[in-house]
Amino acid sequence: MSRPLDLAAIRAEFPILSREINGHPLVYFDNAASAQKPDAVIDAIAHQARTAYANVHRGIHTLSNEATEAYEAARETARAFLNAPAHENILFTKGSTEGINLVASALAGEIQPGDEIVLSIMEHHSNIVPWHFLRERHGAVLRWVGLTEDGALDMADLAGAIGPKTRFVAMTHMSNVLGTVTDMAEIVRLAHAAGAQVLADGSQAAVHMPVDVQALGVDWYVMTGHKLYGPTGIGVVYGTAEALDRARPYQGGGEMIEIVTRDRVTYNTAPHKFEAGTPPILEAIGLGVALDWMQQFDAAEVHAHEMGLYARAREGLRGINGLTVHGEAPGKGAVLTFSLEGAHPHDIAQLLDRYGVAIRAGHHCAQPLMDHLGVTATARASFAIYNTDTEVDAFIEALAKARKMLL
Ligand SMILES: Cc1ncc(COP(=O)(O)O)c(C=O)c1O
Repeated sequence: MSRPLDLAAIRAEFPILSREINGHPLVYFDNAASAQKPDAVIDAIAHQARTAYANVHRGIHTLSNEATEAYEAARETARAFLNAPAHENILFTKGSTEGINLVASALAGEIQPGDEIVLSIMEHHSNIVPWHFLRERHGAVLRWVGLTEDGALDMADLAGAIGPKTRFVAMTHMSNVLGTVTDMAEIVRLAHAAGAQVLADGSQAAVHMPVDVQALGVDWYVMTGHKLYGPTGIGVVYGTAEALDRARPYQGGGEMIEIVTRDRVTYNTAPHKFEAGTPPILEAIGLGVALDWMQQFDAAEVHAHEMGLYARAREGLRGINGLTVHGEAPGKGAVLTFSLEGAHPHDIAQLLDRYGVAIRAGHHCAQPLMDHLGVTATARASFAIYNTDTEVDAFIEALAKARKMLL
């Protein structure tokens, strides 16, 4: 049985939510950038460090064995969270950015000049720049897929962009700006038909919907701990056995080798082949606890709650003159991005902060998307499990006041 969605009880587990900002109760709507951490995560990290900390996979002493057990238990939790077939399919990185760099770098050796990599224009820079490296260094050609009017991925454009030269399709599973959820299974179907691999950037999606990497059929799936109510400095890459086998190691160092001699090196098997050096041990353990924490709740109930907050906020913005909401694709997630004519998003965010409301303003690491929208920056409110209707109302009220001051 899932734990009931009792918001008062949930909020009590996030000490930071009881803070006041500028004399107002904190309203934290910057969850797409990074989510707050429950006591369970904060305490688990401290407890591990206090009682059972040592380096992993190296020692034969008790503490090292206990730390290794906890670290590998976190890998098992991540495996189950993504429904990966085996723990070998799960690599720990320091976040999505490192995860995507790992995949792009692992593939670099296979890229010939003229090989094509297909991206959408709503990608985060983390899922753009590593592919630019392959363009700059290996002559890859980047092909860009556009959006429909409401911000959905243009599937006809995608079908046209994938062809015999496509080696790789790298696409978001949920946009951090528009909230658009992509049809990853269909993306995979089109890419695989052309013999191309697919990487799904699940940095946002993994927080808001159950992910089954086997059902999606992706070759690679990437997520990041700090958006999943876990610590910073930890992320997960899922790779199929075949993709991992083909991939070159990303970094060299301890633990990723089998034999090192003066003139030769052979590599360990996955996942260790991709985890050079001392890994983020405490962070991985914290992430495991965060994923367990999330999974106490019914995912459909959490989704309905977050979308309820989105709908309330969307409704609140409806009456405001000169306000544009970016991204209204059917099935989108709880991310509300908007522009207000005549007001810079930074000024809006700064004024909202005066009322204790934390939102994001800027290009959201998505400059090609900003170009497409014809703006340089937007404001973004993004919702999480612990947010409430009262907070949405405080946000709308603060926005009305900010608007009066700015226009
Ligand atoms: C869609 C998307 N991809 C990638 C990233 C990068 O994640 P990280 O900064 O944790 O590496 C983010 C973070 O904002 C994101 O929203």
